[in-house]
Amino acid sequence: MHADRSGRSLAREDGWEARMLLTRSRADKAGAGREAVLEVRGLVKHFPLTQGILVKRQVGAVKAVDGVSFDLHQGETLGIVGESGCGKSTVAKLVTHLEEPTAGTIRYKGEDITKLSGRALKAVRRNIQMVFQDPYTSLNPRMTVGDIVGEPFEIHPEAAPKGDRRRKVQELLDVVGLDPAYVNRYPHQFSGGQRQRIGIARGLALRPEIIVADEPVSALDVSVQAQVVNLMERLQDEFGLSYLFIAHDLSIVRHISDRVAVMYLGRIVEIGTETEIYEHPTHPYTQALLSAVPVPDPERAERRERIVLEGDVPSPANPPSGCHFRTRCWKAQQRCAVEEPALAVPENFAGTLHDEPVHHPSACHFAAERAAVAPPVAG
Ligand SMILES: Nc1ncnc2c1ncn2[C@@H]1O[C@H](COP(=O)(O)OP(=O)(O)OP(=O)(O)O)[C@@H](O)[C@H]1O
Ligand code: SF4
Ligand SMILES: [Mg+2]
Repeated sequence: MHADRSGRSLAREDGWEARMLLTRSRADKAGAGREAVLEVRGLVKHFPLTQGILVKRQVGAVKAVDGVSFDLHQGETLGIVGESGCGKSTVAKLVTHLEEPTAGTIRYKGEDITKLSGRALKAVRRNIQMVFQDPYTSLNPRMTVGDIVGEPFEIHPEAAPKGDRRRKVQELLDVVGLDPAYVNRYPHQFSGGQRQRIGIARGLALRPEIIVADEPVSALDVSVQAQVVNLMERLQDEFGLSYLFIAHDLSIVRHISDRVAVMYLGRIVEIGTETEIYEHPTHPYTQALLSAVPVPDPERAERRERIVLEGDVPSPANPPSGCHFRTRCWKAQQRCAVEEPALAVPENFAGTLHDEPVHHPSACHFAAERAAVAPPVAG
């Protein structure tokens, strides 16, 4: 109760209340027409590969992110999924300015922030905060919880006058469900879930509009994961936050996300509402990923075909020509090696879901014929 009360009092400050009013119920959050707080277009990050000891020469590049575009709307959660190494964390680092893009643009509320620096960057960064994966290593063990949560105020003193910081930090602890009296404790005195709450409190300190959460619950026990996800959902509704939520676990992503982007080798291969992606995937890679997710209904589980992907993910330093997925795709045809499929709504798409037409972008030449080639069944 107390946590909710102080959450509301925090929300009334600095225009958060207005944003809360803008936040609709989860059911209609994925609806069109909402303001895009973030517009990412053609984002590229190539890490140079060098050779030589004295004189370094570039011999190639790791194409970690290779032309990623998406919008993040006010108050929504966009989930990003994909196998290890597909570029999820690099996207997170580019959006939060921890890495510089090789190409592409990032717009925050219509303003191009891609090349900002100095004061202008600092001002924008206040609004786009990051919550990291590992609550054990992301908190400085020598700092008290009060110092950790209040650290952003050192960088942005205008956000909280010195005399008011302790009160603000205690309010933030309260908001994330921690006892404000813990302010002088050290990280090792908390459990994993509590530490992630501390990380979230720090992320909230500057009243951001966007939180980029890179695997925020992956290091936690399953029971604790649910608590932290529920906390994030409550905070989103309370403060009108927009989340970029990165995770391996497709069930967690489905639970929290309004829309989902599926990444493979540095590119988004399919993007749509949570229902479109999970109930009507059109890209063979998404279909394979989802076929591996356990379903609780034994009858459904029996009827389901498990698609086993052959081979390893190719190196992002040397991705296949045409469609990056073609070396593992059971639907691949000659065209796939020479022609890169655009991420677009398939033409002549006949799919329906709950009697509604389905039309979401998919980067596959044959997305319109969803099951034209039957997937192999696991033996
Ligand atoms: N600083 C860097 N220098 C060189 N290569 C990098 C660097 N950071 C990431 N990479 C490479 O870029 C690719 C994408 O990495 P990234 O960490 O974004 O993947 P990810 O999807 O977050 O993976 P995971 O699920 O394992 O966290 C990988 O091949 C990785 O090795
Ligand atoms: S474009 Fe070709 S290789 Fe790529 S996903 Fe579609 S069928 Fe498979
Ligand atoms: Mg990562």
